[in-house]
Amino acid sequence: MPKVNGVGYSESTMNKQFVLKKILEKHLYAVDYIFRSKTGYFYRKNYLYIDATCGNGSYKCDIKSNQNKIIKGSPLIFLDTLKKVINMIGYTDCYFIDKNITSLEELKKQIYICLSDKVKIIEGDYSLKIPSIIENHHNYFGLIYFDPNGIVDLDFIIELSKQKNMKKIDILFNYNGTAFKRKKTMLKLDERFIDYFKEIKKLNWYISEPSGKWQWSFLFGTNTTKIRLPKSYGFHNVTSHNGKLILRKLNYTKDEFRSYLPSQKKLTNLKWWEENH
Ligand SMILES: C[S@@+](CC[C@H](N)C(=O)[O-])C[C@H]1O[C@@H](n2cnc3c(N)ncnc32)[C@H](O)[C@@H]1O
Repeated sequence: MPKVNGVGYSESTMNKQFVLKKILEKHLYAVDYIFRSKTGYFYRKNYLYIDATCGNGSYKCDIKSNQNKIIKGSPLIFLDTLKKVINMIGYTDCYFIDKNITSLEELKKQIYICLSDKVKIIEGDYSLKIPSIIENHHNYFGLIYFDPNGIVDLDFIIELSKQKNMKKIDILFNYNGTAFKRKKTMLKLDERFIDYFKEIKKLNWYISEPSGKWQWSFLFGTNTTKIRLPKSYGFHNVTSHNGKLILRKLNYTKDEFRSYLPSQKKLTNLKWWEENH
């Protein structure tokens, strides 16, 4: 995958950004609805959005049919969506984080007009920056988005999900199934995605069909039943038949998947999870 300042694009980038836009719309409209409903009357109306790996704001796409086409990066997609859900603008605090300073400088040029006390760009490793942001946002609804080039830091997401202020803040991450399995095989590690996934403290999960040879898949975790990601965006609840099938695909290598036998001892961690969901 070609990269500019650590931001990689591939043929599936367009689809990724299309699906992200749909998820962000769904999330912002759902929270807006909650705020305007009777029950919303009792909530403090505050929304926190963190893009943990925001990149430089655009992808310059020179692959085959899309010569020189510019695709908007996730920060711009979020800000565009927020402008549409106009009621939410005043309630929203937004953080764009990246460890690559050059990317952030490019991003700043594109969104300087939006920067304020409520829209901040932060340089650094997300695992060091996010905990204190969450600590300072008590009683917020929100969403944190992780989209690294390689494997997302699952240990960090597990710990984050346990933080007190995370109850109404949902988690969305783009997961690279193939990279995880390759690392596991190369280092002969006895660990699987499901071992991490089941430790993340969110009650409802939606998963998207894995895309391409890297098996990129979105996972969205929330504690509410009010935000559902539909099949029309390629999502399945992880407790559904298709959702479980996708989890298996992400969890096992092709060989393991072919020889999957429920009685196999090694696979019992997933079997346990399936039986309990
Ligand atoms: C695929 S790009 C993100 C693209 C962005 N989500 C978009 O759609 O425009 C991955 C970015 O994650 C950043 N990154 C990777 N690991 C990080 C970490 N631990 N903390 C902060 N940024 C990180 C890289 O610098 C890179 O800019």
